[in-house]
Amino acid sequence: MIGLKRALKGSRPQGGGGCRVSHRRPAGGATTGGYQSARAAWGRARPPSRRRPPSCVRPLDMLGWSRAAASVLLLPRRVWWRPEAAMSSLLVGQPKYAWLRELGLQEDNPGVYNGSWGGGGQVVTTYCPANNEPIARVRQASLEDYEETVKKAKEAWKVWADIPAPKRGEIVRQIGDALRQKIKVLGSLVSLEMGKIYVEGVGEVQEYVDVCDYAVGLSRMIGGPILPSERSGHALIEQWNPVGLVGIITAFNFPVAVYGWNSAIAMICGNACLWKGAPTTSLTSVAVTKIIAKVLEDNKIPGAVCSLVCGGADIGTAMARDGRMDLLSFTGSTEVGKQVALMVQERFGRSLLELGGNNAIIVFEDADLNLVIPSTLFAAVGTAGQRCTTARRLFLHESIHDEVVEKLAKAYAQVRVGDPWDPDTLYGPLHTKEAVKMFLDAVQQAKQQGGSVVYGGKVINRPGNYVEPTIVTGLAHNAPIVHTETFAPILYVLKFKEEEEVFAWNNEVKQGLSSSIFTRDLGRIFRWLGPKGSDCGIVNVNIPTSGAEIGGAFGGEKHTGGGRESGSDSWKLYMRRSTCTINYSKDLPLAQGIKFQ
Ligand SMILES: NC(=O)c1ccc[n+]([C@@H]2O[C@H](COP(=O)([O-])OP(=O)(O)OC[C@H]3O[C@@H](n4cnc5c(N)ncnc54)[C@H](O)[C@@H]3O)[C@@H](O)[C@H]2O)c1
Repeated sequence: MIGLKRALKGSRPQGGGGCRVSHRRPAGGATTGGYQSARAAWGRARPPSRRRPPSCVRPLDMLGWSRAAASVLLLPRRVWWRPEAAMSSLLVGQPKYAWLRELGLQEDNPGVYNGSWGGGGQVVTTYCPANNEPIARVRQASLEDYEETVKKAKEAWKVWADIPAPKRGEIVRQIGDALRQKIKVLGSLVSLEMGKIYVEGVGEVQEYVDVCDYAVGLSRMIGGPILPSERSGHALIEQWNPVGLVGIITAFNFPVAVYGWNSAIAMICGNACLWKGAPTTSLTSVAVTKIIAKVLEDNKIPGAVCSLVCGGADIGTAMARDGRMDLLSFTGSTEVGKQVALMVQERFGRSLLELGGNNAIIVFEDADLNLVIPSTLFAAVGTAGQRCTTARRLFLHESIHDEVVEKLAKAYAQVRVGDPWDPDTLYGPLHTKEAVKMFLDAVQQAKQQGGSVVYGGKVINRPGNYVEPTIVTGLAHNAPIVHTETFAPILYVLKFKEEEEVFAWNNEVKQGLSSSIFTRDLGRIFRWLGPKGSDCGIVNVNIPTSGAEIGGAFGGEKHTGGGRESGSDSWKLYMRRSTCTINYSKDLPLAQGIKFQ
């Protein structure tokens, strides 16, 4: 959990920006102005002891030079002297953001990788949510690029599937190591492009590293059982084979980790991967793929084993409809996920769905409030409410309701709002302007449905997509807005009397992702884990709803889609199972003793 004690120290709201993606041809800049503010923000943002993605800045930093001056002076000459670099309205062209070059990013970036880089589709510019500055441009995949990439990925699979699993694991190990080397700079890009705070950006890359380690071990362990055959002279075994090509569509809010969960496991299972990230985080997709591509190419493995097709709904739909996509792993909203699931089902394909959540924390009268307050703060306010596992409903036993609300409001007041890359910041912007509108709309609906805003509820007065983390009380457990996943930091606080009713309320929403109770009652804990307890995929006790470890299977039930990723036996979803019976005798006994003569 990220420095919650620090969270409670003091509040310093300041600075900000917005985020969107615009479609344009590559010629011409993006927005003008803002260079100074972005520059000042970055300079302010990075106390050297805590954070230093551009490694070149350090030595002068230590001599007491200003970070801005140091980053300019230590730039490679070719960047500093290029007039367009000095003039660029794109962050990537500005000295302060020279560290983006460490990830191989340029003003214009190809968004298709299938062994070589290309792309002939629309150009998108991605924007930093915290300062509304354009970062760089990515040329996305056209449908022709998509077609070519699928063919290359299928060809690459033939090579990859022949490599023994432990050797595939060795490649994944190297990918993990390559990510380790870039962890700070890649985490910084996540912070810059998605808007989550720096430690969470780095944490996401760490999650990918962790799942690589996990997958390396798994590459020597996956396999099926030998089962006792009822027929003499027969062997009954399970053989697991890769499905082939795994399409991976990911959401904006975890632009690194979700791809990591999927690709590391899919790869050791012997699959090729084809990735489409969210258009608003295209640069992160490109940067991650560059790291992977180098490992593959250094090992003389076809790069198309890990293909990338940047794009929007057009490419996503093509993937969903495409029978060559042997498994389609989709992470995103329930609304889009349902369309995708139906398209895949139409062709009897396989899908793995990780969709929306509406997660609850239940606090009983015997709970340790020293755990409850920081847990709720992290789960509801962390990532500005933009995690699939964000706590959106807080059920409080009536005897402690007022006390917890008061304590929580005090904790909210101390959350430090700021630029996400500032190490002191705990709370950054929403990802897009549309998200701000959805936030305001949800607050309005909550009021109309009988709720009272006891904290927040407004847009923060600074340039960007910042909204106040918000607490609403007084709503009915089944008010329509309480049953809606609004991807913003709004917490609905609800009162309950009895265990039975609150377990039912936990389960009455359509989504079934994550859930937590806070109690010291052992019997209640086991009832919560049991058949009449939580119906979610993630069922916690005395910890927040968010912040899952990679070792367990991650996913949820009902409208969350039923998929499982990452640890435990999730690997099985990336493979097909054959039940094999081998007769090594000279007789032909039939099962169930049937005589057919
Ligand atoms: N359960 C999980 O593990 C998990 C993890 C992260 C996010 N989410 C969910 O994701 C949502 C937020 O992410 P988002 O706003 O990026 O979701 P989204 O559904 O808008 O987009 C997800 C992805 O789908 C693509 N897409 C859009 N239209 C498509 C179409 N017609 N066919 C195929 N692909 C299409 C997008 O370009 C993007 O890559 C929330 O609901 C959140 O709960 C779930």
